Amino acid sequence: ASNQMWGGRFAAGPDAIMEAINASIGFDKRMAAQDIAGSRAHAAMLGATGILEPSDVEAIREGLLTVLSEINEGAFQFSTALEDIHMNVEARLKEIIGEPAGRLHTGRSRNDQVATDFKLWVRDQLDASESGLIALMRALLGQAEAGADWVMPGFTHLQTAQPVTWGHHMMAYVEMFGRDLGRVRDARARMNTSPLGAAALAGTSFPIDRHMTAKALGFDAPAANSLDAVSDRDFALEFLGVASICAMHLSRFAEELVIWSSAQFRFVTLSDRFSTGSSIMPQKKNPDAAELIRAKVGRIFGANTALMMVMKGLPLTYSKDMQEDKEQVFDAADNLMLALAAMTGMVSDMTANRDSLAAAAGSGFSTATDLADWLVRVLGLPFRDAHHVTGILVALAESKGCDLPELSLDDMKSAHPDITAQVFDVLGVENSVNSRTSYGGTAPSQVRAQVDRWKEMIA
Ligand code: ARG
Repeated sequence: ASNQMWGGRFAAGPDAIMEAINASIGFDKRMAAQDIAGSRAHAAMLGATGILEPSDVEAIREGLLTVLSEINEGAFQFSTALEDIHMNVEARLKEIIGEPAGRLHTGRSRNDQVATDFKLWVRDQLDASESGLIALMRALLGQAEAGADWVMPGFTHLQTAQPVTWGHHMMAYVEMFGRDLGRVRDARARMNTSPLGAAALAGTSFPIDRHMTAKALGFDAPAANSLDAVSDRDFALEFLGVASICAMHLSRFAEELVIWSSAQFRFVTLSDRFSTGSSIMPQKKNPDAAELIRAKVGRIFGANTALMMVMKGLPLTYSKDMQEDKEQVFDAADNLMLALAAMTGMVSDMTANRDSLAAAAGSGFSTATDLADWLVRVLGLPFRDAHHVTGILVALAESKGCDLPELSLDDMKSAHPDITAQVFDVLGVENSVNSRTSYGGTAPSQVRAQVDRWKEMIA
């Protein structure tokens, strides 16, 4: 049988392989609600502009509501022969209301229709990302507030560098996810123009009102160029770009949780609810959720790369290549939401082990910089000389198998004769973090100020 949408031009129906490669209904049925919302807005506008009779518009409106409830109830029969969600919905509408269904597509094409549906779908995901990020930031703020003054080692090269506070480390992630939140909001503001009414590519001779449909669908304005409107997938790429960066942040944090929950670190204890056991080793408690979150960036960034490659050489305007946009975005969105939710659960549930953090904070000569700063401040040495003297003392402590605070005053004087017992005051980790009061520094007072600032910003 020939196609019911374009059968006039065709003598024969498609080969089975043609149908298989061509159909998108298997995945684009996820846009059913958006497709029906777009059609309802279009039909209402066709009525308001006098292009369609009120009776036809009413029949279409009621028919679309019936189709929507059939889909929601799982009673709808999706057909690959009907290729995509747009034609599945329209064909079913025709079965229900008959002839007026054929008038719905006046002044519209599947090209502007699919761009509209997909934009609405991506916009929902940006909104969901916003909520997911805020929930995660709240969980991090809870951790930061509880441990604003708990000391832990700060690292560079994963080598102990200087003591920091637990709260400060948590707040570093609040900054990162806060930037993601900003990117989500920017992307949403930029993408919010309506392709509907661009028709196939050139606009239409019908006296449609694109401002009306744009408003009905929550867009700020109609997209201003019909060629661009049907061929633009920047909104999907921007979502994938934002999602990729966010997933990268999630992955870095997940990696820290994997390290921190190990027996060698014991910085955190993950809850049973977000851990798994081993089928052979009874003692094991594995951070699987963190590992899976760490991996998600791979598929999300993969989706970003895949769609960039699909789009990169396409001439204007629509090409069927663009049908390959949806699965990438659907998969990336599903996995981003899951990763955000899992990370939020893990962070809310986890216990920071204050004692392990404190013990680690003082090891590895973590207050060597404080010693050098003291030599500058109290003895007036140039920083480079102070660095050298401190280096001698670190080497001495290392050879004695002790830490800096355990060196004797005589040891200290062997590196520089003017050193006094006062130096031991700056070697404690608490003194070290309390002294770092510069803006954005790790001192608990700074951390608490940042917690308050962010709480207000996401309130
Ligand atoms: N299923 C198609 C897609 O996802 C809908 C648009 C088809 N347009 C066309 N001119 N064949 O892109």
